[in-house]
Amino acid sequence: MGRGKFITFEGCDGCGKSTQLRMLSEYLTKENIAHIFTREPGGGKISEAIREILLNGKNAEMTDECEALLYAAARVQHLSDRVEPALAEGKLVICDRYVDSSIAYQAYGRELGVQFISQINSYAMTAYRPDVTIFIDLTPEAAFARKHGADENDRLEQAGMAFHKRVYEGYKALAAQEPDRVVCVDGTKTPDEVFAAVLAALKEKNCL
Ligand code: TYD
Repeated sequence: MGRGKFITFEGCDGCGKSTQLRMLSEYLTKENIAHIFTREPGGGKISEAIREILLNGKNAEMTDECEALLYAAARVQHLSDRVEPALAEGKLVICDRYVDSSIAYQAYGRELGVQFISQINSYAMTAYRPDVTIFIDLTPEAAFARKHGADENDRLEQAGMAFHKRVYEGYKALAAQEPDRVVCVDGTKTPDEVFAAVLAALKEKNCL
């Protein structure tokens, strides 16, 4: 039995990632393909404790650098707790967000720079480079319009929008830099059409 493949899913908030993960879960179960679904920070008590620190509203004074380091710390623990054991058992590992989220959200969104984020994630990026990353390509404007209706662009959302536009720009830069790993799937299509593209990409990369 060979090692399993490592697949990650990425995209801006509201891109339709959760729907695609649900559809993939149903497909893999139906096809009897051994797999695990996981997400960051997830599994294990250490990653969960870090998650609680990251998501706790009381920690508003956390610096951007600290946030980036905590994501990176939770990531290496998650690799050891959940990803490595499943890959060793020959299972397909599907992870909802990975290092690319840190590049998009912390390097670009928070403007910490690619060098710093790459440095603190170098272990994850080299030892556990995904076999394929599915990037669901939907602009934050399109995601927002889909969710709230196009007219509701109040000032607060506009401020948030600048951040999300930088995140999107980060993803596009990654996709351009690593076309062999990052597969862009058009997120404006219907869920069924997007899923067909996801399956085609995973088959082409010999993951299914
Ligand atoms: P979540 O509620 O899981 O959102 P989604 O369903 O869109 O994945 O929250 C994850 C949030 O954490 C999302 O806004 C992206 C952010 N995030 C980072 O900023 N950096 C990271 O390294 C990771 C893994 C997530």
